[in-house]
Amino acid sequence: MPKLAFIGSGRMASAMVQGLLRSGACQPSDITVIGGQDNTASELSQATGVRAVTSPLDLLAGADAVVLACKPQQFAGLDPAYAMLARGKLVLSILAGTRLVSLSKFFNGARNVVRAMPNTPGAVGQGITAQCSVVALSPEDALIVQSILSGLGRILELPEAMFDAVTAVSGSGPGFFFEFLAAYEAAAVELGFTPEQASLLSRETFRGSLGLLAATRETPDNLRTQVTSPGGTTKAGLDAWASAQFRTTVANALIAAQRRSAELGKA
Ligand SMILES: NC(=O)c1ccc[n+]([C@@H]2O[C@H](COP(=O)([O-])OP(=O)(O)OC[C@H]3O[C@@H](n4cnc5c(N)ncnc54)[C@H](OP(=O)(O)O)[C@@H]3O)[C@@H](O)[C@H]2O)c1
Repeated sequence: MPKLAFIGSGRMASAMVQGLLRSGACQPSDITVIGGQDNTASELSQATGVRAVTSPLDLLAGADAVVLACKPQQFAGLDPAYAMLARGKLVLSILAGTRLVSLSKFFNGARNVVRAMPNTPGAVGQGITAQCSVVALSPEDALIVQSILSGLGRILELPEAMFDAVTAVSGSGPGFFFEFLAAYEAAAVELGFTPEQASLLSRETFRGSLGLLAATRETPDNLRTQVTSPGGTTKAGLDAWASAQFRTTVANALIAAQRRSAELGKA
């Protein structure tokens, strides 16, 4: 496994480092990390045994691939020395909204630049990450990228033109899901349950429904039809949703998120 250098050692970098070590793709001595003002790099080093450094030169000397995992606004102020030190190396960025053209402009001597869009469940290894690259990945670089990103969960290769849509569907998706769950639990409390009972009933219902979906390999539409008897309770609830334009509301949320992603990408 090549030597990896992480610019940023926060939540997502930690999830990737832990995934790399867990899978055996890397030994702690293969990985070097750097942070900003706080202690994230030394904390990650203490937790995993990877090497924490404080200078770009120490970070990139001997590294084969660079993982950019700071915040997008921190990238804007990144030490230009990184660009020179990253010449000939593979660069993989997980910065939300930062396009390949901007990454390639900064890392202008990199052998290839990969852009990835993870989501928050990646912090516990259960996310989904979209990836694209400036030029097609060599088999060796594809393996490196796979090893790094698989610590965050599943991976899907997509053209960069789809990244605003990815940002809407899987990037903002956890936020949409948590808002739905919060609304559902609040509505359950209104029916007379305690908050604890409401959250247990709601969360187990959705956890079990996802389990059923996976076990049966049915479509959500088929499973919904199976529990919707004519004149029954589910039908009454679904009719209330239909009259409030539920599907249009969901579609509008995705369209709004996609548009906002496109606006932010131009800013
Ligand atoms: N969290 C998500 O679900 C998610 C989803 C999609 C994309 N992303 C992207 O993932 C990236 C990281 O997110 P995160 O949640 O892991 O953020 P985070 O926990 O705040 O981590 C940011 C890291 O960057 C370090 N840093 C700050 N300035 C730096 C500098 N000048 N040089 C090197 N390192 C520096 C910070 O160090 P100190 O704190 O020690 O100063 C910290 O280790 C972001 O670009 C975000 O857009 C995240």
